[in-house]
Amino acid sequence: MIRSVVRGFGAALPKRVMTNKEMESRVDTSDEWIVQRTGIRQRHIAGEGETTASLGEGAARAALDRAGLTADDLDLIIVATSTPDNTFPATAVNIQNRLGMRHGAAFDLQAVCSGFVYAVATADAYIRGGLAKRALVIGAETFSRILDWSDRTTCVLFGDGAGAIILEAQKGEGTKADRGVLTAQLRSDGIHGDKLYVDGGPSTTGTVGHLRMEGREVFKHAVGMITDVIEAAFEATGTTADDVDWLVPHQANRRIIDGSARKLGIPNEKVVVTVDLHGNTSAASIPLALDAAASDGRIKKGDLVMLEAMGGGFTWGSVLIRW
Ligand SMILES: CC(C)(COP(=O)(O)OP(=O)(O)OC[C@H]1O[C@@H](n2cnc3c(N)ncnc32)[C@H](O)[C@@H]1OP(=O)(O)O)[C@@H](O)C(=O)NCCC(=O)NCCS
Repeated sequence: MIRSVVRGFGAALPKRVMTNKEMESRVDTSDEWIVQRTGIRQRHIAGEGETTASLGEGAARAALDRAGLTADDLDLIIVATSTPDNTFPATAVNIQNRLGMRHGAAFDLQAVCSGFVYAVATADAYIRGGLAKRALVIGAETFSRILDWSDRTTCVLFGDGAGAIILEAQKGEGTKADRGVLTAQLRSDGIHGDKLYVDGGPSTTGTVGHLRMEGREVFKHAVGMITDVIEAAFEATGTTADDVDWLVPHQANRRIIDGSARKLGIPNEKVVVTVDLHGNTSAASIPLALDAAASDGRIKKGDLVMLEAMGGGFTWGSVLIRW
């Protein structure tokens, strides 16, 4: 059977780092409050000329270089983002053009913080369905541009960045020993739409709007939703928490990450955490964390890697990959 195997990975971050100390000069907050409640110590903030497409292009080029491939070798680009450069055309098509790719297909996918998990699941379905051979999957965001910088309950939490992986069709045996995506479990429930949203859009206000969140409400649902889709992935593949080499969660909040790992019985040493350095970069957070842990040699070929995310919508999901 066909499996979608990871051929490359890469990341790109804005040059400018904003520490919690600097945040103290913008809103009534403290380094201590932010670290204690979220684990965030700093975030990268896009400057002039840095956009979702430019960061996505940087991550894409890094992933292509690492894979020893060029844009000619791709036939699909999916960009998970909620902060596109323009309402249209899609940021994926913008990046396709930046890479000089004149063939294949490119489109954006919007599932907020679960965007990368949704995009990997979609690329995997295209590859297994024979519609694509090599897909570039990018998570790229500039949430700093939709934050209300006077709202301390949200502006301290988010950051900008991009990460990418390349998935390639390879033959597998159809067992859990195969390399590649072993399962994807996606969920959504729009009843929670008012708990984490942007208060504007092309068809309502004609503006971009600002992010609004009931943090406590999001927190209340997060651990249960995350552990549900991870357990569904275990059931679908006949694996258990003991088989997982690395849990690579969406990086929203250290307390949510620790709570989920604890409930699943996955020890802290097996959890990749970058929220301290990047803040919540929404759809970019998982590929940024993958890049960090695969670059420094923690994640190795053959390792069983569990991705999970939960975000606005609500949307949530997991992907189990043998690296
Ligand atoms: C946002 C979050 C960190 C807030 O932590 P919390 O413990 O729930 O804090 P609360 O919202 O109950 O606020 C507690 C107090 O801190 C204050 N506070 C809020 N933001 C603050 C900040 N940046 N600095 C200092 N104080 C702050 C509140 O005003 C409140 O003060 P009060 O008690 O005087 O009213 C937490 O709810 C959270 O992590 N939620 C999930 C958010 C998330 O991950 N979203 C993305 C999902 S993709």
